[in-house]
Amino acid sequence: MPVPTPASAALFERARQVTPGGVNSPVRAFNAVGGTPRFITRASGPYLYDVDGQEYVDLICSWGPMILGHAHPEVVAAVSGAVARGTSYGTPTPAEVDLATALVERAPVEQVRLVSSGTEATMSAIRLARGFTGRDLVVKFAGCYHGHVDSLLASAGSGLATFAVPGTPGVPADFTAHTLVLPYNDRDAVAAAFAEHGDRIACLITEAAPGNMGMVAPEPGFNRFLSETCAAHGALFVSDEVMTGFRTHAHGRWGLDGELEGWRPDLLTFGKVMGGGFPAAAFGGRADVMAALAPTGSVYQAGTLSGNPVAATAGLTTLRLATDEVYAHLHRAGEAIRAGVGEALSAAGVPHLVQTDGTMFSVFFTEADGVDAVRDFAGASAQRTDRFAAFFHSMLEQGVHLPPSAFEVWFLSAAHDDAAVDRVLTALPAAARAAAAVPDPS
Ligand SMILES: Cc1ncc(COP(=O)(O)O)c(C=O)c1O
Repeated sequence: MPVPTPASAALFERARQVTPGGVNSPVRAFNAVGGTPRFITRASGPYLYDVDGQEYVDLICSWGPMILGHAHPEVVAAVSGAVARGTSYGTPTPAEVDLATALVERAPVEQVRLVSSGTEATMSAIRLARGFTGRDLVVKFAGCYHGHVDSLLASAGSGLATFAVPGTPGVPADFTAHTLVLPYNDRDAVAAAFAEHGDRIACLITEAAPGNMGMVAPEPGFNRFLSETCAAHGALFVSDEVMTGFRTHAHGRWGLDGELEGWRPDLLTFGKVMGGGFPAAAFGGRADVMAALAPTGSVYQAGTLSGNPVAATAGLTTLRLATDEVYAHLHRAGEAIRAGVGEALSAAGVPHLVQTDGTMFSVFFTEADGVDAVRDFAGASAQRTDRFAAFFHSMLEQGVHLPPSAFEVWFLSAAHDDAAVDRVLTALPAAARAAAAVPDPS
């Protein structure tokens, strides 16, 4: 029996009167899975609490940022102190220097500029790449999402994958005419695009490991190949670490390949974890490229709340507390859940693939015979999203809140202790049976 959620339903009704679709970011509306989104009033550690008084193990974690869990006492204390000192000054502050230093110490960037969202970070990185190279073309991969930047919304993942839209009205065709979209993990396609357009390509942007079409790891050496190809053609290699940065690994996803193989992206973008649940993001990289930004250079970029002292304090405290033990814990908890999902879906006879990259993972409800890995957007799109919807609702009714889309990573935190993980494991068999009960399309 579905758990009644009258207070969420009433709020959703009110929300739809005053906000398109009742939400401020499309995937939250539950359109892909049906039903009423839960309106959350409070969160603590690994749990969310809704307006109807239900408790959920949270596997969204704000879509990535909450790596320490909700309302971590040290983050709350640091943020409270920052708020008490005033919330925004519009002047340089010590906190933003400290946060920039923390990023430079952890990731392969010589300089960073702080912004307020991942979208702003990728938009600014693209502008900088174009300004620095004097070229217009941008290469991206189908299924990679880089925020709602005009020129990057062609064949993007995340909400666009969830709703099966290839692009969006409102972006002039001339804008996307400057974007080349290639299949992920396809070296031949990359080589061919650069052979034909290499001297007009400003940059190639990729998720360091795509998590917005579900988790699709780069094949070994793929990022290195991209970096070398860009360098050979005078284009910049932009690694989008908004989702992976400081979640996959302490040094970003780069810590799993570039650091070991000895290459660096020209520019990187960050968000989510580095903001500790506040609107903070960044782009950064080679000092000579970053010097092209105003005020040292002529590529303009600015922001009223950029480097906001409260957000910078939350991010800095979160990064400081994201120790090796946190990453080890994410590995252990993820391993337990991955094994449980695999067992439950196999026992129920539901075809699936569980894919992992570092501490991140997702589950594909994939049908295709003989497929042993999803390596690109075409593979990711071949899933039974109807089965995921049934699985999702069963988990929700049992008190586990997954991301409401088959194309998203399941996020964990350091606060997901044995009790929280056990609740997920206990819920899995019934959810797998619910997925199995969905009839095949006729
Ligand atoms: C890889 C990646 N880049 C950019 C963005 C955009 O970030 P934001 O939602 O903060 O604008 C996202 C958001 O999910 C993302 O996953």
